[in-house]
Amino acid sequence: MNIIIIGATSGIGRAVAEIYIGQGHRVGITGRRKHLLEEVASAAPDGQVFTQAFDVADGAAADALAGLVRRMGGVDICLYSSGYGHTNTALDPELELGQTEVNAKGFVRCAVWLFNYWAGNGLRGHLAVISSVASILPLGVCPAYSATKKFEAFYLETLRQLAVIRGADIRFTAIKPGFVDTDFIHGRHFPMTIRREKAAALIVRAIKKHKKTAVIDRRWAALGVLMRLIPSPLWNWSGRYFRPYKDMF
Ligand SMILES: NC(=O)c1ccc[n+]([C@@H]2O[C@H](COP(=O)([O-])OP(=O)(O)OC[C@H]3O[C@@H](n4cnc5c(N)ncnc54)[C@H](OP(=O)(O)O)[C@@H]3O)[C@@H](O)[C@H]2O)c1
Repeated sequence: MNIIIIGATSGIGRAVAEIYIGQGHRVGITGRRKHLLEEVASAAPDGQVFTQAFDVADGAAADALAGLVRRMGGVDICLYSSGYGHTNTALDPELELGQTEVNAKGFVRCAVWLFNYWAGNGLRGHLAVISSVASILPLGVCPAYSATKKFEAFYLETLRQLAVIRGADIRFTAIKPGFVDTDFIHGRHFPMTIRREKAAALIVRAIKKHKKTAVIDRRWAALGVLMRLIPSPLWNWSGRYFRPYKDMF
């Protein structure tokens, strides 16, 4: 199969790419840090890995993605892993807008191009995104992060119905990890943190099983059920206990 990972220079995206490479798929990898893309490609057999450096916040990102798909001769599965988050209790507008550019607008740029590519050519496709458990409840310590992660998952839901409307054969998976030991959490220790390799294996399995949503891992899935039961006034009131966590990530 031809699989593209958008945001595969480090962390979860890179670990997922390495699994797919190990399984013998043709894998396209993207990110801004070209030398890291080359590092992944050079560890794989010649011709198996295709690289394309681009910034998802750039208006031309979809053109770069299209070029990669053309060079690979098509794409069956795409995982959007590009993203970042910051706590922002001071509500610095630059921080809020920066995350919105990458996690929301960048995702839409890529998702729209892929949807139209599959639907317009009568091809089967599968689009997955790394959302977060931060999408389950509105987190006041990181407004743009929490909201854009919700956006990613909800946008997939809208595309799922649009696929029915347009008669397109496209599957969608929203991945919602808890804490994973990547650069994202800067080596800090949070409860129920899992290794990136474990997260990647669970993500590959969820995509293979065509799961609509996958909370990673089981403990976070159980906690997610409880989180959804918290009444909104109680959740807002509990904000006073988040004050020590204003610089969490
Ligand atoms: N680690 C966690 O605890 C955790 C939990 C829940 C969800 N997530 C989500 O998982 C995803 C991956 O994060 P990670 O934990 O693997 O952290 P990471 O190691 O920092 O990976 C982030 C990836 O996103 C790419 N990226 C960032 N900005 C980009 C841009 N403007 N254009 C293109 N690519 C960009 C980075 O590539 P370049 O820098 O080379 O561009 C990198 O490959 C994120 O969406 C994050 O929100 C992480």
